[in-house]
Amino acid sequence: MKISLIFALAVICISAMSIDAQNAQNLQLGKASIKQIVAAMTLEEKASLVVGKGRTTVAPSSTSSASGAASAPAAPAGPMIGQTQALVPGAAGITFDLPRVGIPSIVLADGPAGLRISPTRNDDPNTYYCTAFPVGTLMASTWDAELVNKVGQAMGNEVLEYGVDILLGPGLNLHRNPLCGRNFEYYSEDPYVVGKIAAAMVNGVESQGVGTSIKHFAANNAETNRNTLDTVVSVRALREIYLEGFRIAVQEAQPWTVMSSYNLINGTYAPESYDLVTNILRKDWDFKGFVMTDWGGGRNWPAEVRAGNDLIMPGNPSQIQAIVEAVKAGKLDVKDLDRNVENILNIVRMSPRFKEYKYSNKPDLKANAQIARQAATEGMVLLKNSNSALPFPETVKKIAAFGNTSYEIITGGTGSGDVNEAYSISLVEGLRNTGYTVNENLKTMYEAYLKAIKEGRPAGRQRMFMGSEPAGELGIAASLANSMATVSDAAIITIGRNSGEGRDRKDIEGDFRLNAAEKDMIKTVTEAFRAKEKKAVVILNVGGVVETSSWKDIPDAILLAWQGGQETGNSIADILSGKVNPSGKLATTFPVRYEDNPSAKTFPGKELPSAEPATEGQQSFMRGKPAVVVYEEGIYVGYRYHETFKVLPSYEFGHGLSYTHFEYSNLKLSSPEFTGKLTVTVNVKNTGKAAGKEVAQLYLSAPAAKLDKPVMELKGFAKTRLLQPGESQSLQFVLDSRSLASFDTEISSWVADAGSYTVKIGASSRDIRQSAPFTLAKSLVVKKETVSLAPKVQINELRPGL
Ligand code: BGC
Repeated sequence: MKISLIFALAVICISAMSIDAQNAQNLQLGKASIKQIVAAMTLEEKASLVVGKGRTTVAPSSTSSASGAASAPAAPAGPMIGQTQALVPGAAGITFDLPRVGIPSIVLADGPAGLRISPTRNDDPNTYYCTAFPVGTLMASTWDAELVNKVGQAMGNEVLEYGVDILLGPGLNLHRNPLCGRNFEYYSEDPYVVGKIAAAMVNGVESQGVGTSIKHFAANNAETNRNTLDTVVSVRALREIYLEGFRIAVQEAQPWTVMSSYNLINGTYAPESYDLVTNILRKDWDFKGFVMTDWGGGRNWPAEVRAGNDLIMPGNPSQIQAIVEAVKAGKLDVKDLDRNVENILNIVRMSPRFKEYKYSNKPDLKANAQIARQAATEGMVLLKNSNSALPFPETVKKIAAFGNTSYEIITGGTGSGDVNEAYSISLVEGLRNTGYTVNENLKTMYEAYLKAIKEGRPAGRQRMFMGSEPAGELGIAASLANSMATVSDAAIITIGRNSGEGRDRKDIEGDFRLNAAEKDMIKTVTEAFRAKEKKAVVILNVGGVVETSSWKDIPDAILLAWQGGQETGNSIADILSGKVNPSGKLATTFPVRYEDNPSAKTFPGKELPSAEPATEGQQSFMRGKPAVVVYEEGIYVGYRYHETFKVLPSYEFGHGLSYTHFEYSNLKLSSPEFTGKLTVTVNVKNTGKAAGKEVAQLYLSAPAAKLDKPVMELKGFAKTRLLQPGESQSLQFVLDSRSLASFDTEISSWVADAGSYTVKIGASSRDIRQSAPFTLAKSLVVKKETVSLAPKVQINELRPGL
C-alpha cells in the first residue's frame, strides 16, 4: 500500500514534469500564439524586447564608417553607434532574443543604395562585399517601377544571403530643398514619384523574404541639427506633400517596418508622436508592421512606447529600466507595451533568422553588378545635347578626361547610406572598357594632383562626414586644353559633388555653385575643342542638385550621371558611346538660383537659444542645438511652386533628353465626366533614328474652390518599352477619386472639388504635348482622416495671389 502510494505520487510528479516540459516546448514562438508568448513574458523581458540589443554594440574602428553616429542630447550614455559585431559584423543593430520562448535576435542593416555590413572580419579570410547600387535620386530618375523592383530583388537577395533580416531603407524624405545633405538617399520633390518608386523598391526587396524599413518618418528634410529640429508645418502640407509618399508605399507595399525620424513635428519628437505613428500610420493607412526609432531618436522612452513606436534602437539598458519603472509607477500602461511586443514578434516570426534560413554568405555579386550597371544607365539624365554631340560618333576614339571625378568617381554618398563595395569603376576605366583611349598625360597629371590633395585630408571615419567640403579642382591652362584638343577627338569634363548624413550642403562656390576653377575648366576646354570642331561634354557626378544656369550654355552636352553605384564609369560610357540611349528624367527641379527654391528662406532652420554649451566640429552633428524650421511654402514645393508662381527653372521637373524623338498623339479619356474612375490613354511614337524609351507624365489641373491648388500636380507616369524607330506604344493611366483630391484640414478629409479638370500629358512639366478636360459634377469627400499633428502656431503660408 505504502509502496503503491509512493509509486502513484511518482507517476503524478513525472507526468506533471513532462506536461511542464511539453508546455514549455509548446510555448515557443511559431507554436504558441503571440498573445500566449506575450502572456508568458515578464515585465523586464517585454521592456527588453522593445529596446534593441545595443549594449553589445561597439564603436566603429577608425577605418569603418560611423553610420548612425547620432544621438539625441538627452540620450543615455553608452555605445550609441549604429554598428554591431554580433551576428553580422557591421550591421546597424540587432533586437533582443529570448530563447526561453523561441525568440531570436534579428539583424538590421543599412541602407538605401545596397546592404551595408563590414566587408572583412577578424581572423576570417573571406570577404563580405556588397553591391553598391545607384543612389535614390538616380533610381527615381528612371521613372521605371519595374526596374526599381528588379534592383530591390537583387539588394534583397544580398540581405538574405548575408544573414540580415531587415534592410534599413529605402529613404523616402522629400527633396524640399536642394541642399539637404541626404537628398542623394531620397527620391524626388514629388510625393507621387516617391511613393511609387519606394513601393517598387520595398516590394522588390521583400520578395526575397526579408524586410525593409521605410525612413525617416517624417518631414526629415534637413541634416543640420537633425536631432533637435522642430519642423513646423501645416497639416495640409504634411498630408499632401510630406506624408503622401509614405502613405503610397505603406498601402502598395506594406513594408515590414517604418523608421521614425529624429526631428520633431509641430512640437513633438516623431517617435513620441501618437498622431504620427499610430493615428496616421496605423489608423489612417492600416500599417501592419512595426515602427522603430532612428538610431538614438527621441528622448522619452516611455512616451515612445505609448505612442506606438514599437522598437527603440540601437538600445541601451537604461531605456529598459525607464520603461519598467514607468509601468511600475502606473505611468505607462502595460497594454501599450504588450501591443508593441506583439507588433515586433509578428515580424520576427516572418524573418529568415526565425525560420533558420541557411544563408550562404555568397550572393551573386557578378549578376548584381550587371543589374546595378543597367539601372544606372536608365536613371542618368541627358540635360543638354546641342547638335547631337552625343552619342559620340565612331570617329571619336581618343578622349581627354578633365575633372577630378573622371579619375575618382563618386559612386554614392557618405554616412549610413554608403556601401562597402568590392570595387568601383571610374569614368576612365569605363571609357577604356568601352574601347576608348584615354589621354595618359592628363591622367598622370590628375593622379598626382589628387594624391597631393589627399595627403592633407583625414582618412577613415572622419572622412565619412566630410561630404560637403568644397571641392578643389586642377586649374586648366589654355595651352594644356589646346594641346589636348590637338591630340584627342573629344573632351569630357566631370564635375563632382558629394554629401551625406549629418551635414547639409551650402550655397557656395565649390558646393551648390561651381567654383572658379571648374567654370574656367568648362570654358577653356570647350573653347579649345570647339576651335578644332571637336565636342566637349560635361558629366555631373553629383548626388543632388547643383547650379547650372550660369554655365550650361557653354559645353556641347551635359549628362547628369548622378552617383551610379559601383559601375558608374561603365554606365556613363554606355551612354556616351550610344550603347544605351538615355531615358532618365529629372524627379527634382534644377532652379536657376538657389534663392528660387521656395524653401531657401527658411532652410535649414533657425537655432534657438540653448542652455547647453555649443559643441564644435565633428560632434556638432551628433548633438545639435534646439532649432525650428517653418515650412512657409506650404504645399508649393518643387515644380508645384515653379509652375504656379511662374519661376522659370534651369531644368524643369520631368526634363530629360534622348538620342531620338517622340511624338505624342491620340489622347483619350474614358469619359468626359468623372464617375469614380477615369482611364487615360495616349500614343507615344518614336519618330527619330535611334531606339529609345520615353517617360510620359500625367499632370492634373484641378479647379480651385475652397482650397487653392497648384496649377498642376503629377498623378501618373509611364515609361515605354524600348521603341524602335517608327514604333509606337499606347500608354494607359488610371485616375481614381484620390487623384482629384486635396486635403481640407477643416474637415480633416481628402476632398475632390466639383468643376472642370484638365489632364495634361507631358514629356516634362514644361513640355505638355496633349491635354483634355473632364468634369466632376458634385464634390466628393474621398476619405476622412484622423485629426492629427496640428501645428501649435499660426503659419503664414504661401498662397497664389497673396
Ligand atoms: C541614420 C539612419 C540609419 C541608422 C542606422 C542613423 O544615423 O539616420 O538612416 O539607418 O543611423 O545606421
